[in-house]
Amino acid sequence: MTTPIERLSNLVVGAVESVSPVEVRVLLDLDAPHTTALNTGTPAAFPRLNGYLLIPNEAGATVAYITWIGIEQSPYPKRSGFKDFGLIDLPFPLRKMSVSPVGTLTSRRDRASGTTKYELSRGVIAFPSVGDQVLMPTPEQVEAIVGARDTDKRVRIGSSPMASNAAIMVDPDKLFGRHLAVLGNTGSGKSCTVAGLIRWSMQAAEKAIQGAGKNGAPNARFIVLDPNGEYAKAFADQVDKLRLFRVPPVTVGERPLDVPAWLWNGHEWTAVAHAQPAAQRPLLMQGLRELKSGQMEGVPREAMIRRYLVSYSTRISAMLNTGTQTFAGGARQRFECARLLETIASDCTQFAGEVEQPNSTELATIATTTTAVVNSRRSGSYFNDFAIADLESVRDALNTLVQTLPDMGSAAPISEDAPLFFNVNMLAEHLERVATEQGGNLAGFISTLGLRIRGMLADQRLGAVIGHDPPTSFDTWLKDYVGDNGASNGPLAVVDLSLVPSEVVHIVVSVLARLVFEALQRYHRSHDQSLPTVLVLEEAHTFVRRGKDDEGPATTPTQLCREAFERIAREGRKFGLGLVLSSQRPSELSPTVLAQCNTFLLHRIVNDADQNLVACLVPDNVGGLLRELPSLPSRQAILLGWATPIPVLVEVDELPEEQRPRSADPDFWDVWTLAKERGVDWSAIAKDWSGQNEP
Ligand SMILES: Nc1ncnc2c1ncn2[C@@H]1O[C@H](COP(=O)(O)OP(=O)(O)O)[C@@H](O)[C@H]1O
Ligand SMILES: [Mg+2]
Repeated sequence: MTTPIERLSNLVVGAVESVSPVEVRVLLDLDAPHTTALNTGTPAAFPRLNGYLLIPNEAGATVAYITWIGIEQSPYPKRSGFKDFGLIDLPFPLRKMSVSPVGTLTSRRDRASGTTKYELSRGVIAFPSVGDQVLMPTPEQVEAIVGARDTDKRVRIGSSPMASNAAIMVDPDKLFGRHLAVLGNTGSGKSCTVAGLIRWSMQAAEKAIQGAGKNGAPNARFIVLDPNGEYAKAFADQVDKLRLFRVPPVTVGERPLDVPAWLWNGHEWTAVAHAQPAAQRPLLMQGLRELKSGQMEGVPREAMIRRYLVSYSTRISAMLNTGTQTFAGGARQRFECARLLETIASDCTQFAGEVEQPNSTELATIATTTTAVVNSRRSGSYFNDFAIADLESVRDALNTLVQTLPDMGSAAPISEDAPLFFNVNMLAEHLERVATEQGGNLAGFISTLGLRIRGMLADQRLGAVIGHDPPTSFDTWLKDYVGDNGASNGPLAVVDLSLVPSEVVHIVVSVLARLVFEALQRYHRSHDQSLPTVLVLEEAHTFVRRGKDDEGPATTPTQLCREAFERIAREGRKFGLGLVLSSQRPSELSPTVLAQCNTFLLHRIVNDADQNLVACLVPDNVGGLLRELPSLPSRQAILLGWATPIPVLVEVDELPEEQRPRSADPDFWDVWTLAKERGVDWSAIAKDWSGQNEP
């Protein structure tokens, strides 16, 4: 009986000629096959560039892939020692190859089935030596090299053109568990690959469930952040599995995108408000804490009201300090005074309805007297001087009432980051109160912030996204976006960001990413195991942009967004959160995030900077494989990293037209030649743009 390795000797195609750590040169036998090899049992293509060869050694065989094939003119015949001067050396063409060792193939005889099993392991145990024989792998060996036979690799993503179209399988635990980057030029097939990965993973999971005799749908969680709005089309056939979120107005089968402003944490508010660290930030945080706690059960409404009343009283005092006998400011000051009194009156009327007796009556009385004071000074749209005594009496009434209301200090402290509902419309006004109470001069900041918040909420598209009315409860939000118990509402959430106004898309994405991360972190804390979830980010270079090293804490939404993803990249794995990043500009991506990606699917990359960057990410000995990157056809990609023992070229399985993401390629010709209709209604667009549309 021949040993497996002995049988291999029929497959010899050449011998090792020279060895260096980076390159092994092989001299092919004169009778080695050229294009089609018959010596493997079945006709197989003779290995081409990036194909595999084996160099047997004591541990099994070293797997090497071909980086160069050529013909060198050498003197013939090869002679050792002396030179026969009677012979004329004619140049003779010899076929040679450069190969790079990438792994080790070992064989194991399976007694039960009587077959030989091959296993590929990462790394080269022994470098070949000069004179070692070089073999062509048999089809089974090729399959073992690319991992087609691996039973614990569960999802087929394509085939290997370099290994007689053997199936390329991946293990989702490895692929998603340690973050995946799909890189390549526009149109190289990234989106199709990502859509395929999701679809094929779910199909494989369904099959495995059936195979195990169970019923039920996969308990999977994919969240796709889709800035181009491509993925809805790719999963249009999966209505029962898909939750599609779009900027309102939405149609049947779509849900309104909802990233409420009350869910933003202190950090996110600071970035949106451009709050300066010294005075503005603490003020903003205090305001948020108070508003959030105001809605908490157990904190009496009286405590909030007390705070308002204190602030009114302080503001009146501040005004009084500027006058003498009568409050004789300019017209503007008188107007402001009237405005303040009117606010007091209307708030007190409102508060009166919210509290018990006798405070209710007290508040109503203050409202009445204050209204009377304003009205007594009104003359048309102007105001006469206010009497100091009048203002003092309002202030004193406020102060008296404050004595009877409970102090806020006793309430449990609430973090500004807590996801508690509050009325965002009240933020600017509330900050104004806090500011006057503290006596700081932050009027400029508050009014700009107020304007910005009001502007955002008034914006037809944005207002609907950040101020959804009625507010969604937090647990419903989590069910919607992260997925319900047992993924009963479907394994896939696609968040279409294409209509989110560009000035806020970063904050929306960073809030979404942070909430998903923190939700899984909390899940892990309470269950002591992780809830496997995949977060897909398309066009990653716009959201996790490379930053400067010396940047301090994030102050803009763009930085915030990067921080959120850097955190997921660093820590997500612990909580079962896997990232899939897709980008056409890897050189613009944050190095922190890229460095944490353990698996890469590299599509065609033409740009120099991007190629260089990618070359730095991979181990030295596969550098040659990457030289092929600029010439990869679409659908082909190089898979390397954690999910595969050695880098392999994959031809990604073909997705039928209706399962592909909507291509961004514009169809000029079809529109020009009337093959596709393309009507224009600018007046509708103009209306929508200028916000005149009926909501
Ligand atoms: N796996 C695939 N199956 C079918 N067609 C593909 C596949 N990959 C790429 N393509 C073709 O390439 C085009 C561009 O792919 P796409 O995924 O949109 O590229 P990218 O996201 O990199 O810009 C698609 O419209 C499709 O025609
Ligand atoms: Mg794309």
